Amino acid sequence: MKNKNILAVDDVASNLDIIVDFLEGYDVIDTTDGYNALEIAQTEQLDLILLDIVMPQIDGFEVCKRLKENSQTKDIPIIFITSKSDAESIEKAYALGGVDYVSKPFRKQELLARVTTHISHKELLDKQIKNAHELERMVKEEVLKNKVQQRQIFVQSRLAQMGEMISMIAHQWRQPLGAISATSANLKLKLELDIFHFQSDIEGAGAKKYFIDKLEDIEKFVQSLTETIDDFRNFYKPNKESQKVTIGVPFEKALAIVHASFEVIGIKVIKEHKSEKIIELYENEMMQVILNILKNAQDNFIEKKIKNPEIHLRCEDKDEGLIIYISDNGGGIPSDDIENIFDPYFSTKSNKNGSGLGLYMSKMIIEEHHNGTLSVTNTDNGACFKIELGGVNHA
Ligand SMILES: Nc1ncnc2c1ncn2[C@@H]1O[C@H](COP(=O)(O)OP(=O)(O)OP(=O)(O)O)[C@@H](O)[C@H]1O
Ligand SMILES: [Mg+2]
Repeated sequence: MKNKNILAVDDVASNLDIIVDFLEGYDVIDTTDGYNALEIAQTEQLDLILLDIVMPQIDGFEVCKRLKENSQTKDIPIIFITSKSDAESIEKAYALGGVDYVSKPFRKQELLARVTTHISHKELLDKQIKNAHELERMVKEEVLKNKVQQRQIFVQSRLAQMGEMISMIAHQWRQPLGAISATSANLKLKLELDIFHFQSDIEGAGAKKYFIDKLEDIEKFVQSLTETIDDFRNFYKPNKESQKVTIGVPFEKALAIVHASFEVIGIKVIKEHKSEKIIELYENEMMQVILNILKNAQDNFIEKKIKNPEIHLRCEDKDEGLIIYISDNGGGIPSDDIENIFDPYFSTKSNKNGSGLGLYMSKMIIEEHHNGTLSVTNTDNGACFKIELGGVNHA
């Protein structure tokens, strides 16, 4: 029970002397002034306050009220010590938050017993509060761990589902694509063998060339469709192993996928600073992040009907890893939304069925698999996404 700090407040100094004497073994700070008592309570770590009620400047009730109103001092137990022993005073003392009441003149044994009881109550309470905080911290930690695991499972299963769907489409398309290719090759062959008879030779030569050119175009389109499907199929194959490449590799693959749709609406991609640094990453995941950001820029260009849409790509090598900036001139992200765009299911594309998962997944991929960060800022005329890469996280 040693080393407990008790504050004794009484306007009569001789009463304080008695208290100090009775409470031998405790550290007792004493004061005859209520205001002074309030100050001491702020600066000292007190375990108990013995408080006289009738005092000239500010009475004990008021001191108690102020202590209870202050979050820093509200939990210090207060025992009133006074000669006022009428029922009304006793009631008021408890109503204001006092824990006990000792009448003057008091006896040593009684005072000691009450002080000991309330100090051990306080000790017990402090311990319980500490345990509750510790428990809360542990629960929070577990919930967070759980969340991270769930996110990872979610990303994996979404990738696997997409991969399965693409494989199914590829399977269904293989046969008609083959048929188109065979038909056009057949037509071309017949033209080349002059099996068709045109009315005049001049007309015939022109028509023949025209058809052969167009059939060659068809073959090229078929070829490109087949490659696109393969690209997508590889894209959604979860990368089990990391690769050591320049960042340009996943960039070029992502750009190849969006190339055709970018051309249709005239989006210019400007590569400002390339990086030749070899960096370890999960290529497909990285492609997916780049693709999500590029597609978002495209969606926004279309929605806002931006003239001369442009996307700028810039890399900066760092001692460890590198930084990539992808910026557009699409007007940026409204300030009300910018805090939320990385949240799961946050989307402003309700009409177009945006799932709101693109940036959430991207952030996860960068932060949890690549020791990096993904953030966004608005520039003068658009949004700028910043990807900082620290290298693969093998854990
Ligand atoms: N370059 C950008 N310019 C303006 N707004 C953007 C840009 N990129 C993202 N946003 C905003 O961020 C939101 C969230 O993007 P996110 O990719 O996570 O979801 P989404 O594109 O709506 O749906 P999906 O899951 O199909 O990608 C978008 O709905 C859009 O409002
Ligand atoms: Mg998106």
